[in-house]
Amino acid sequence: MRTPLIAGNWKMNGSTALINAFGDTFATATLPANIDVVVIPPFPYLDAARHAFQNTPLQLGAQTLNPQHSGAHTGEISGRMLKEFDVTYVLVGHSERRQLYQETDAQVFNRLVAALDVGLTPILCVGETLEERDAGRTMDVVLRQVGHAMARLEPVQRLQIVIAYEPVWAIGTGRTATPKQAQEVMAGIRSYQAGFDVSLAEQLKLLYGGSMNASNAAELLAQPDIDGGLVGGASLKTDDFYAICQSAG
Ligand code: PGA
Repeated sequence: MRTPLIAGNWKMNGSTALINAFGDTFATATLPANIDVVVIPPFPYLDAARHAFQNTPLQLGAQTLNPQHSGAHTGEISGRMLKEFDVTYVLVGHSERRQLYQETDAQVFNRLVAALDVGLTPILCVGETLEERDAGRTMDVVLRQVGHAMARLEPVQRLQIVIAYEPVWAIGTGRTATPKQAQEVMAGIRSYQAGFDVSLAEQLKLLYGGSMNASNAAELLAQPDIDGGLVGGASLKTDDFYAICQSAG
């Protein structure tokens, strides 16, 4: 049985006030039993979040990490540092990092390994652009991204990652993949994993991301291969994010 995971990716948004609002809301909220909920704010808010979330079920995530543990890398942040702030999850290979900051599959893999090295759970993000979907290349693109990482990981490491399928055309556009479209790709990712190991395929947690909101979450999360959501815009409103968490129960 895979535990549902709802992760809120704040991107370059948020404030100390929003951190506190989440702390207050989730301190008294009753979440469905047996789900994991993660808030992923920008780096400067991690320490405030760690304190504000102390009496809540919220866990903390980070949006990226440098592949190195320390050194002369001005402006960068390492996994070791994130661990000091009780961060448990880290996004790797988000499409905005791939597109805006030219992160390649090879760099994404190095970040993935750096996260695993320090005991962070990486959420590997994959997804096709609209052009790639229209050209009928969705599965090729997604499985290339997944495969690049999976083929290079040790079997034990493969069990420690989460994969988020986020069609690029659905991110921040209000245009969600239909549950059928999302399920199709998720099932493809899962059966690809079975090529490595059948029990890995059964255990692997797969999240859908791309304009998930309080109205469409339940239907997406009801799909057999969707184990949770990576939520951007709707994770910036306590009520919406709370409602999405309720749909995962
Ligand atoms: P969105 O973002 O929910 O605003 O589409 C999702 C993401 O980029 O993780």
